[in-house]
Amino acid sequence: MKETVSKTFREIYGAADDVRSYFAPGRVNLIGEHTDYNGGHVFPCALSYGTYAAAARRNDRKLRFYSVNFPGNGVTESSVGDYRPLRDKSWTSYMKGVMWALAGRGFEMDCGLDIVIGGDIPAGAGLSSSAALEVLTGIMLRDMFGFDISNQEIALLGQKAENEYCGLNCGIMDQFASAMGRKDHAIFLDTSDLSFQYVPFVLQDEVLIITNTNKKHSLKDSAYNDRRRECGEALEALRKVTDAEALCDLSPEDFEGNKDAIKDPVCLRRARHAVYENRRTIEGVRALEAGDLEEFGRLMNASHVSLRDDYEVSCRELDILAETAWEIPGVLGSRMTGGGFGGCTVSIVKKEAADEFCRVVGETYREKAGFDCTFYVVSPGGGPEVF
Ligand code: GLA
Repeated sequence: MKETVSKTFREIYGAADDVRSYFAPGRVNLIGEHTDYNGGHVFPCALSYGTYAAAARRNDRKLRFYSVNFPGNGVTESSVGDYRPLRDKSWTSYMKGVMWALAGRGFEMDCGLDIVIGGDIPAGAGLSSSAALEVLTGIMLRDMFGFDISNQEIALLGQKAENEYCGLNCGIMDQFASAMGRKDHAIFLDTSDLSFQYVPFVLQDEVLIITNTNKKHSLKDSAYNDRRRECGEALEALRKVTDAEALCDLSPEDFEGNKDAIKDPVCLRRARHAVYENRRTIEGVRALEAGDLEEFGRLMNASHVSLRDDYEVSCRELDILAETAWEIPGVLGSRMTGGGFGGCTVSIVKKEAADEFCRVVGETYREKAGFDCTFYVVSPGGGPEVF
């Protein structure tokens, strides 16, 4: 993809003197879902799949964007300082949003750019193609204009762009995983204070398989913002009887002792998911560090059940994938990953069972869902790169 992006740059804009190339990864979350805006823990890793850019400075203030993934859109033009969002929610909004967020911090671009983007993460698959694009933009502008900003700050500005510019109230997990990824490691991140630890994640006798439902999650943004609101309501009720500042400040024991304060049954279930998912994430990392991958897998399965029943962010297609996987010998764990309502599952499967996994899950899915899923065998990749 890197070569395709560079070649496309020359085709679209012609040869330029100093064309630079950049990469930022997508991510898969192993466990800790919908905890990152509740002050809880998450455990994602970066992927070797991601988004690439080729870019060159211009002599004026014009910005030109082109994506090899959306050739039909052609070249979109804008200019430095004009950060009015484009109404069509085009992919350029993620880039302009980061430019806007950087400018808000005093990081002004002193000229325009010609940019070509290309990604090999399937869009809308819940593998954070948008966070990768945001982080990519931050890395690219830092390099082009010499901005003094850390990867972690780039992640935070990416989240700000997504929240305030693009209108999705996401947490910090995706941008953090993309900006801070480390090869062969997952990131155990406490979103309450952004303290984190790299945990080695190298499988010996197993493989990590991402299965894409190939179902686009159209309802995702509005339902995601609804979940945040419901968690906020649950927290408000709990604050009357505890000193919790976020749902995940509560242990399951604290929660059980105080949950009657939440009158709305829906908000109660949302809060229960957040509190127990946070506990599962902490226990999962402990199990992994102790070499107990079977326990990690059981926690993954429990995470899916909670996301399906209490948090209600799964969907029929994700349930078919996870529930089919659970029945296959050699599958240690399988769960939906990311925001939900479509996208992917992540599974840990014994090497010798991987072919059977793909065959049985693939056939069952086609039969029940009516279309095909796609498999990717992955391992934790590194963070962003400047080539
Ligand atoms: C999306 C958001 C993340 C996180 C997950 C759910 O990916 O962007 O911040 O909330 O959903 O865990």
